[in-house]
Amino acid sequence: MVSRVVAAAADRGLDGRIDAQRHDLTRTRPTGPFDLVYACYFHSPVTINRNGVLRQAAAQVAPGGCFLLIDHASPAPWSWKQLDPADIPTPRQTLDDLGLDPAEWFTVRCERIHRTATGPDGHTTATVADNVIVLRRT
Ligand SMILES: C[S@@+](CC[C@H](N)C(=O)[O-])C[C@H]1O[C@@H](n2cnc3c(N)ncnc32)[C@H](O)[C@@H]1O
Repeated sequence: MVSRVVAAAADRGLDGRIDAQRHDLTRTRPTGPFDLVYACYFHSPVTINRNGVLRQAAAQVAPGGCFLLIDHASPAPWSWKQLDPADIPTPRQTLDDLGLDPAEWFTVRCERIHRTATGPDGHTTATVADNVIVLRRT
């Protein structure tokens, strides 16, 4: 993925302006501040301190910046792991678990949405749910 980012940046004449880094986020992370921190389907088949990583990520957001978190809220039929719906947190639970200071964070969006996803075979589709949380740091 890092090499694809670098290649895409070069294709667009942006080389030298993109710093693509690879991290095990339980150990190291890029240091901000950043205007946007975006965690897209940050799930792991191994046990990690996901909340801790996300809290550290939120801490890298600059004042006025945005923290965008998109989580799977239902497994696609082709997923490597099927989940008990009772084990899937609501967007509100995920937001509360982050424990971010409400005086410092404005919630722009915190909701479950549904979308049509296409499977790895390129033609099978299914409706899946995502939790979408958008926060702005004051
Ligand atoms: C379900 S994939 C999502 C991939 C991609 N973000 C996307 O939207 O298609 C889960 C991703 O979480 C990331 N991840 C999980 N554990 C991680 C860790 N310890 N450090 C860094 N990234 C991790 C990896 O990038 C992995 O590909």
